[in-house]
Amino acid sequence: MSSNLLKCKPLDMLTQEAAETGEHSLKRALGPINLITLGIGAIIGAGIFVLTGSAAAKYAGPAIVLSFILSGIACVFAGLCYAEFASLIPIAGSAYTYGYATLGEIFAWIIGWDLILEYAFGAATVASGWSGYVLSFLEDFGIRIPPRLTLAPSEKLVFFGGHWEHLERMKDTLQAQHINPNTLPQQTGLFNLVAFLAIIGVTILLVIGIKESANFNSGIVIVKVAIVLMFIVIAGLYALKNPAIVQANWHPFIPPNITGKFGQYGWSGIARGASVIFFAYIGFDAVSTAAQESKNPQKDMPFGILGSLVICTVLYILVAGLLTGIVPYTDLNVSDPVALGIDVTGIAWAKILVKLGAIFGLATVMLVMLLGQSRVFYSMSRDRLLPAWAGEVHPRFRTPWISTLLVGGFVAVFAAIIPIEILGELVSIGTLLAFVIVCFGVWILRVRRPDLHRPFKTPMVPLVPILGVLVSVGLMASLPLGTWIRLLVWLAIGMVIYFGYGRHHSKVQNMSSNEVKVAGD
Ligand code: ALA
Repeated sequence: MSSNLLKCKPLDMLTQEAAETGEHSLKRALGPINLITLGIGAIIGAGIFVLTGSAAAKYAGPAIVLSFILSGIACVFAGLCYAEFASLIPIAGSAYTYGYATLGEIFAWIIGWDLILEYAFGAATVASGWSGYVLSFLEDFGIRIPPRLTLAPSEKLVFFGGHWEHLERMKDTLQAQHINPNTLPQQTGLFNLVAFLAIIGVTILLVIGIKESANFNSGIVIVKVAIVLMFIVIAGLYALKNPAIVQANWHPFIPPNITGKFGQYGWSGIARGASVIFFAYIGFDAVSTAAQESKNPQKDMPFGILGSLVICTVLYILVAGLLTGIVPYTDLNVSDPVALGIDVTGIAWAKILVKLGAIFGLATVMLVMLLGQSRVFYSMSRDRLLPAWAGEVHPRFRTPWISTLLVGGFVAVFAAIIPIEILGELVSIGTLLAFVIVCFGVWILRVRRPDLHRPFKTPMVPLVPILGVLVSVGLMASLPLGTWIRLLVWLAIGMVIYFGYGRHHSKVQNMSSNEVKVAGD
């Protein structure tokens, strides 16, 4: 009986599903540009707009540029593997489906369950970061939302410098100024209403339609990329006019590790920085969840996945290099480092645009993450590992509306009550686990089914998949023990659901054995 757990979903069945049309299937509405913008929509977000500053200040200094290169290389390995799968198996489920086709049902379930960490918790994390930007933007105009409605219940606020600030983020500043936070007024968060409402808004859009969602995304991606480019131009001109400042800020480029502790500057700081800003790259794989809505997935999937990844990598390296060039890295531990960079150049209007860009930009990250999550559920339900209603497609909107609403509801609550740090680390570990399985999957399928026509081939197999696995495991290893424990608890809950429901209802399990290829044969 146990070998059943390794039943693979036959590739013919997947190809058939990919070819389905009609009102119960998703709508093939997305072209190559939509896919690239979908990728950029998911990638550029809280990572570059928020995390770059603290990662430079705390771990890598100006060498955060090298952290971005390192993390980018890790993602390219995984991205090449995703591209091969997405063109070969253009089904909505992404890594879940690839796992089903290659490693067997139990792994598919694990990966599907794990993807919730990436997409659902990813959307929640970004919503949480988004609320911070909204708050700061509104405050610039004298509009105040009660601060307790902007944080999760276990988070604390401290009143400092005329504002209520998140205590966790202020700790270093207060310590540097020898201020004991307990001497300042404090209050505890209640419910992050702003994050909650953001997710509800995005969910409604996703139910209304894929084309509407993609168009909204494309429009905002243009604004978001324009604002990143604007930063690059303004900071670049400032750097050209003030080479002495840049030289001073970049010297030493790799600040020495004086304390001897892992991760505090030096080479280990570059590695720690890479694992933190890995979050900034998450999202390129979400393109693969839209494979069933792509007009020409064989050709356009690799283009969307790799194109968005390469564009963002280049933008990130430029932003990180310029930011640390024009602002001393020690000043960058703030919640809006890119806006701080603009501040230094003295161009006030651009600062408002950067904040607006972050606010709209983060909205598209939530959109694509939630899109990805509902598509994974859609695929799991069509395989009957989840109940049929989860895959119900709305007859008019042609979107998986029930799973979208369900996911949206849960994510809105997560975003409102779980602190952003916990969410963010769970997202990273979940995504990295998905990368590991996808990289392995590509290699395994090459060995088992070398005959398959692969419209896109990962180069240098097995070297690239192996490197993808090694780098991902390395980044996972640098995450805290608590995150590992949460991952294991999450996977254990998943196992209970699988053995309680999915295993008995699974379509593949209920097929006669000669219809199914058993993994390990
Ligand atoms: N890459 C996405 C972000 O940085 C998740 O917000």
